Amino acid sequence: MSDEIEVGSVSELKVGTVTGAGPYAVGNSQGDLFAVSRRCRHLRADLANGSIDEDGCLMCPWHHAKYDVTTGRMVRGPQGIFARIPFLGTTFKLLTTVLPLRRGKVTKRNKKIYVE
Ligand code: FES
Repeated sequence: MSDEIEVGSVSELKVGTVTGAGPYAVGNSQGDLFAVSRRCRHLRADLANGSIDEDGCLMCPWHHAKYDVTTGRMVRGPQGIFARIPFLGTTFKLLTTVLPLRRGKVTKRNKKIYVE
């Protein structure tokens, strides 16, 4: 039995948008669909409420850490007051080289998007 989850219609997931589907944040980064695990590695914000920046990275809605959606790695640490804590951003970036966001497999079928 498949663990496939229906995300929605292809036309709804426009470039630069992110949505939630079960344990995944599913988005459209510069025309490429992606799925990553939903909880930010920093303080577990829901990345399905995040946004896609001009570089195609997924940005956390709480403290604006950025993730490369092709690897699941944090490429910019938490911002705001957290950016002032020495080595915090570097530590999270290193952590996600070992424990990146889990990536799901996204498929399109009959104008719908699925993730597993
Ligand atoms: S919870 Fe994501 S950067 Fe803080």
